[in-house]
Amino acid sequence: LELEELDGVLYPRYHDHLEQQLQQIRKLHVRDSDVILCTYPKAGTHWLWEVITMLVNHISKFSNDLKQSAMLENTDLDLVNSQPSPRVLNTHLLPDALPDMTWLSQCRLVVCHRNPKDTVVSLYNMARQVSYKQIRSAFEGTFEGYASLFLDGKMPHGSWFDYVRAWEQVRRRPPADRIYVGSYESMSRDTVGEVRHLADFLGTGTSESLCEDIARACSFQNMKQATKHQKGAANPEIWKPDATGIFRKGKVGDWKDWMTMELSEAFDRATLARLSDLDLEFTYEL
Ligand code: A3P
Repeated sequence: LELEELDGVLYPRYHDHLEQQLQQIRKLHVRDSDVILCTYPKAGTHWLWEVITMLVNHISKFSNDLKQSAMLENTDLDLVNSQPSPRVLNTHLLPDALPDMTWLSQCRLVVCHRNPKDTVVSLYNMARQVSYKQIRSAFEGTFEGYASLFLDGKMPHGSWFDYVRAWEQVRRRPPADRIYVGSYESMSRDTVGEVRHLADFLGTGTSESLCEDIARACSFQNMKQATKHQKGAANPEIWKPDATGIFRKGKVGDWKDWMTMELSEAFDRATLARLSDLDLEFTYEL
């Protein structure tokens, strides 16, 4: 894995000038109307981004904007600055690395977690099927090898455990009322219900029927179909030919097809050891 370390956090090598980019992000002008979607990679970022974008625009069809241009760490920030409101930004950064203004403005943050076992399966499948221009080759090791790197925190954007801890700490102090924390699993279990919760949190005044339409429009199949030929939408140019792409399976519990009992138990032990004081519950099957 080709990673770059900055201030103790590992980043994927998708930016030629990561340090400057991170400095500029700190100085980014945040608007009160912004929604910033904060996720560890593979927690359902594309899914939530579309849902939130539809909610704030009061529509149930895909807009012409692409999530890629709203992703703070790998986009041109001039583009972000010139985007009209309401903006739905997104990032995999830790809370400390967000724009300073995040904490002073009235913007809203949507955080989404996904259980670590499905997260590592999803990450591995991406890692072995992509080759970025900066990352010369896809990951060629085994799933077990990748999972042990995950447990060691040697991942793009650092340790999943550290990420969850950092956001859980932030959400428990002011401005807690501006932070919504959801999960991939609750989105999967009851998509309409979660869209409703998001609409209430964002104050979009969305009708019940529009919530239903949005949930349907953003189904796994629809999103896979919609982004198939859309250059940049899910970065098709970085995937190897015949790769599954971002929209791979879209299931809760796929880890069962990948993990031995021992590996699954190692994940349970690590989660218990590193996060049990936070009283979180992760859902591993529906
Ligand atoms: P899998 O690899 O398990 O299929 P991100 O957008 O954060 O990169 O996350 C990608 C993961 O979210 C992939 O998981 C992808 O299939 C899943 N996903 C994306 N859109 C989805 C949707 N509309 N419904 C369910 N899962 C979705």
